[in-house]
Amino acid sequence: MAGSATINVPALNKQLNVPTGLFINNQFVPSSDSQDLIRVVNPATEQVLCSVVAASPKDIDIAVAAARQAFKTTWGKNVTGFERSKLLHKLADLIERDAQELAELESLNNGKPVRIARDFDIGDSVQCLRYYAGWADKIIGQSLEVDNQTKLAFTRHDPIGVCGQIIPWNYPIMMWAWKVAPALAVGCTIVMKPSELTPLTALKLSELVKEAGFPPGVVNTVPSYGPVGGAALSSHPDVDKIAFTGSTVTGRKIMEAAAKSNLKKVSLELGGKSPHLVFESADLEQAANWAAMGILYNSGQDCTAGSRVYVQDSIYDKFLDILISKVKAQTFGDGFDNTVGGGPLVSKGQYERVWNYIQSGKQEGATVILGGKERSEQGYFIHPTIFTDIRPDMKIVREEIFGPVLSVGRFSTEKDAISLANDTTYGLGAGIHSNDANQCMRVSSALEAGTVWVNQYNLLYNNVPFGGKKQSGIGRELGSYALDEYTSVKAVHWNFGEKLDWPL
Ligand code: NAI
Ligand code: MG
Repeated sequence: MAGSATINVPALNKQLNVPTGLFINNQFVPSSDSQDLIRVVNPATEQVLCSVVAASPKDIDIAVAAARQAFKTTWGKNVTGFERSKLLHKLADLIERDAQELAELESLNNGKPVRIARDFDIGDSVQCLRYYAGWADKIIGQSLEVDNQTKLAFTRHDPIGVCGQIIPWNYPIMMWAWKVAPALAVGCTIVMKPSELTPLTALKLSELVKEAGFPPGVVNTVPSYGPVGGAALSSHPDVDKIAFTGSTVTGRKIMEAAAKSNLKKVSLELGGKSPHLVFESADLEQAANWAAMGILYNSGQDCTAGSRVYVQDSIYDKFLDILISKVKAQTFGDGFDNTVGGGPLVSKGQYERVWNYIQSGKQEGATVILGGKERSEQGYFIHPTIFTDIRPDMKIVREEIFGPVLSVGRFSTEKDAISLANDTTYGLGAGIHSNDANQCMRVSSALEAGTVWVNQYNLLYNNVPFGGKKQSGIGRELGSYALDEYTSVKAVHWNFGEKLDWPL
C-alpha cells in the first residue's frame, strides 16, 4: 500500500485524506522501481502541500498492462452500454456529493477560487460525465446495402482500446472529465497522467472511480513528470491512443513519439493566440465584458484566452476606456475569499514565463496602459496587463502567454480585421462583436478557428465540439464528435448468397 497525505480544507474545516501513490488496478501502490517524488505546491502561499509518487517508465508499463487486461476481460466489449452508462452516472453523483472538498483541494493545488472550481469546473465536469453517460448505449454504426440478393455490410464502432490521457494543470478536474467521460462511454480503458503541477484531484477522483464500481484497471492514474511518464505513455507499443491537452511544443513530441512507436491515434488540444474583433456596431459594454472575461478567466491560463483584441478605429478610444475599467473591476487574491474572481498563476515557472513576456512587450516598444508591474505580494500573482501600440511581429502578439496579458490593436475595415485575426499559427478560438448580422455571418465564416463566438466569448457546452485548427490541434473533444476519437470503425462484409468461382 502507498501512503496518503492529510490536507486541511479550510472552508469545510476538515482534514482531507489524499492518496499519494499510483492508482493501478483500483489500488494505490508505490512505484515499482523508483523513489522519485513530485512536490506539490500551493501557488497562493508558495508552500509545499505534500509529495506524491512519480511514476517511472516501468510503472507506466504496469499501468498499461492493467488497462489492457481490463479491456480484454471486464470492460471493452464485455460490458453493455447500459452498464457503462450506469457507472458513469454513479461517478457523476459521487463527484457532485464531494464537490466542495474537491473544489477546495483544486484551489489549494491550482490557485483558482474555490467558488469557480466548484460552480464552473466541477459543475461542468459532472454534466460532462452525465452527457457521455447518455451516449454509452447509443453507439451506433451503419448497415449498408451492397447487393440485396447476396450481401450486406455493416459497421461497428469498436472502442479503440487502451488510451493514454495526458492532461494539463489549468483545469485539472475538467480536463480529467473531458477525457475520461467519452473514453469510458464507448468502452476504452485509461492510463491517466495528470500534470506534475496538479496531481491531487486526479488522485482523489480515482478513489471515486473505485467507489462508483468500475472494475480494476479500467481507470489507472499515474502522476509523473512529463518527459518521464508522459513520454513513456506516448511511445508505448501497447497504447492505442493518446489524448493530450497542453502546449504545442509537447503536442509535437507526442505526435512524434506516436509515429516512431506504433502509430497510435493521437488527439491534441493545444494552445492559441485567439483574437476578438470589436466592430463599430457592437454593444461596447457587452463586448468589453466578454473581452475582459476572455483574458482574465482562470488568470489567463486558458487555451482559448482572448489575448489579442482588435478594435475598429471609429470606436477605439471609447472602447479602450470601457475595457480598462472592466479589467480593473476583476479582483485577484486568495481562492478561499468568496469575493475574488481570480487566483495566482499555477507555479513559479509559469509566473516567470509570463513576466518575461511582459518585459519583452516593453522592450519591443508596446505601450503599457495597465499593469505591467512585478508582484510584491506572496503567491504567483500577475497584475492584469494591457498593451497597446502593438505590431504583428512582436512576441506578445505572436506567442501564447498564458497569463492575464492582453494586446490591443486597431483596424479600419472588415477585411483588415479578418487578416489581423488570422495572422497567427494558431486557430483555437475567435470572438466577433457586432450588431450587423450579415457581418457576423461573413466574419465567422472567414475566421480560421475551431470555435468562433459571436457576441460572447469562452463559454463551452458539453454537447458542442471543441478543438483547434492550424497548430492549435488535431481532433475534437465534447459533443458526439469526441466519440469518434475513441472508436475505431470496423466494416463487416457479410455474404449470404454469392458463390466464388475459382480460379478467377
Ligand atoms: P506542457 O504541455 O509541457 O504540459 C502539459 C502536460 O504534458 C503535462 O501533463 C506534462 O507532464 C505533459 N508533458 C510534458 N512533457 C511531455 C512529454 N515530453 N511527453 C508527454 N507528455 C509531456 O505544458 P507546460 O510546460 O506545463 O506549460 C507551458 C506552456 O504550455 C504554457 O505557458 C501554455 O502556453 C501552454 N499550455 C497550454 C495548455 C492548454 O490548455 N492548451 C495547458 C498547459 C500549458
Ligand atoms: Mg512543458
